[in-house]
Amino acid sequence: MAIIMDGKRLRDKILSNLKSEIEAFTKKPVLAVILVGDDPASRIYVNNKKKTAENIGIKSIVIEYPANIEEEVLLKKIKDLNSDDEVNAILVQLPLPRHIDKQKVIDAISPLKDVDCFTIENCGKLYTGLEPYVYPCTPQGILYLLDEYKINLEGKHVVVIGRSNLVGKPAAQLALNRNATVTVCHSHTKNLSDITKTADVLISAVGEVLIEDDMMKDDCVVIDVGIFRDCNGKVRGDVNFETVSKKASYITPVPGGVGPMTIASLMVNTVKLYKEQNKRSS
Ligand code: GUN
Repeated sequence: MAIIMDGKRLRDKILSNLKSEIEAFTKKPVLAVILVGDDPASRIYVNNKKKTAENIGIKSIVIEYPANIEEEVLLKKIKDLNSDDEVNAILVQLPLPRHIDKQKVIDAISPLKDVDCFTIENCGKLYTGLEPYVYPCTPQGILYLLDEYKINLEGKHVVVIGRSNLVGKPAAQLALNRNATVTVCHSHTKNLSDITKTADVLISAVGEVLIEDDMMKDDCVVIDVGIFRDCNGKVRGDVNFETVSKKASYITPVPGGVGPMTIASLMVNTVKLYKEQNKRSS
């Protein structure tokens, strides 16, 4: 039976340490979150971010726009937030409506306030081995979990399923940085289970039921980034937890695994940016 990697417990530990650190600051770090449209899942995520931030002494500003907002208005707002010395971190909640050029909006964020590490400049640093100010929240959260359970990636075969800019690509890069051998699989991958069966660590970020126990070897470490509601309304991940947890050595539950770590990472990143900006202005 696998050891369950408890994201909630680790999140609470990280947040409690951050809260103590923030108490010693002369002013509160400020996180600005832009939410466009009325996607219910995005609204829940943004509310969680706001609540968590305020619980630990980070001021959170949520700026909401209707789905039909013009791109120019969004770009102007980001420009204002960039030049506002009170704001340390900026997050544009994704997805954005289709009429908006997502990359253009992300790239409007000052790299020094880019709490997600999504701008071209910060991605460039990430993928060339230079240090960005912060690392993308979900992949960083996965590393925190692996570290907590003393799972070393060096020389291991890490198989990532999913190649999104949000999770798959940066997760692969962070695993490479830890000297893992990395394979990235996606919707065009042939013989997926031939590859997943060779994984020491399997990271799935797809958003549909995918991983069964016959797709993995014994004692694989399974990280489930997927989260969605199935046809019965139950929140679940990419992995068949019932069967896979009997074969894996470690597994993240859904909910309660990677999700809480993403939020914890966001708070860590906000504080890192705050400190970096204060260092520069002192
Ligand atoms: N939408 C889903 N996850 C994320 C995230 O980590 N950052 C942003 N900006 N949007 C998201």
